[in-house]
Amino acid sequence: MSQLNLLVIGSGGREHALAWKLAASDRVARVYVAPGNAGTALEEKLENVDISPMDFDALVAFCRDNQVDFTVVGPEDPLVAGIVDRFTEEGLRCFGPTAAAAQLEGSKSFTKAFLERHGIPTAGFAVFDDIQKATAHVKTLTPPIVIKADGLAAGKGVVLADSTEEAIETLQQMLTGEVLAGAGSSIVIEDFLVGEEASFIVIADGENYLSFATSQDHKAAYDGDEGPNTGGMGAYSPAPVVSDEIHQNILEKVIEPALDGMRSEGNAYTGFLYAGLMIDPAGEPSVIEFNCRFGDPETQPVMSRLESDLATLIEAALDGRLSEMDIQFDAGSALTVVMASGGYPGAYEKGRKISGLDQVSGAKVFHAGTSLSGNDVLTSGGRVLGVTALGNSVTEAHRLAYEAVSEISFDAAEYRTDIGYRAIARENSES
Ligand code: AMP
Ligand code: GLY
Repeated sequence: MSQLNLLVIGSGGREHALAWKLAASDRVARVYVAPGNAGTALEEKLENVDISPMDFDALVAFCRDNQVDFTVVGPEDPLVAGIVDRFTEEGLRCFGPTAAAAQLEGSKSFTKAFLERHGIPTAGFAVFDDIQKATAHVKTLTPPIVIKADGLAAGKGVVLADSTEEAIETLQQMLTGEVLAGAGSSIVIEDFLVGEEASFIVIADGENYLSFATSQDHKAAYDGDEGPNTGGMGAYSPAPVVSDEIHQNILEKVIEPALDGMRSEGNAYTGFLYAGLMIDPAGEPSVIEFNCRFGDPETQPVMSRLESDLATLIEAALDGRLSEMDIQFDAGSALTVVMASGGYPGAYEKGRKISGLDQVSGAKVFHAGTSLSGNDVLTSGGRVLGVTALGNSVTEAHRLAYEAVSEISFDAAEYRTDIGYRAIARENSES
């Protein structure tokens, strides 16, 4: 019997995919999405609610008035600002880390010190809030030099400087508040890591955890991983760089010590924990970053492969019963191509009409920056759609996703044509 009423907070492709997967459960009657997008507005069992993710008073009142059984938080900002603490005080169930635990994403200096304390592998680093000291340190390093703003910066707080001059200019801009305002008042300077990246995401209940299928996103705007960093232009699952042996290595060297460390320090971690990893040529993982939430666009391919009931898994995590659960994924691959507004990640126009959405077959289109105007779906953000296909291999999922992309159009649409290229090269070399 359908009985659960749920709320998903956020408006991106991640939230569309989470809400869609939650609604696929027979146990779920309705999933509200605050504020959602055109995709969540049109989806069966989903209903948009016009409340901002940071308006905790209105969200609490909505959950009371509508008998919401539990809330799932998509983006990091409300988590870092303490939405879980607030809901808990109000006697409401909200899935995610407390503000103290969300520091794993909210503060890079907290996280680097935490990793060091617990012997978890990560790039060597130094933290600065003084320009003279930071400049003197940079002059001792060989480029590329990695400079990160300490606080939340919506994916724009990391610069890989190719020269000492660029590094000095970057740290001056961050430390004087010329860019990123408060987020850059303290900076982290890191050693440069080489290898292949992978996203490793778990669901945790404070004590136990289950791993999601691995994934990999493409952060650079243009083909060949060139151009400026974005929130992510596409993703695929699994990430073939993570062999069974490396998988085990990641659990033992990163995930378990991180969850145990948080618990032993009084910040038991409940929620999705995302480890952004660099796997070096010897197969050893290093932590690039933690996120206190699911990845966007990694959610789209991972949820497409999830066969288990997401609502039941989250409910078990909220109850501290994850040890009783297991998690199953489709044995194939999934791949998401992000269609973005021309100009993104810089300035772009909104309000362009999207056509061809009803022509798509063989793929699922998750919406991100879209809005409804009468019967029309319009662009309303930088990342607009996440076109997602399942296949027997990354190569097949890639083909099906791009076939669907070719059906969809809007003015000045931009997308990468090479999502999954490393995984496809691996598949070609293996066959
Ligand atoms: P972050 O926001 O910390 O995930 O960094 C954004 C991107 O910068 C990562 O996905 C990596 O591609 C790159 N990056 C960050 N830190 C390092 C590092 N220490 N060495 C090499 N690349 C890095
Ligand atoms: N796709 C990277 C992230 O969600 O942070």
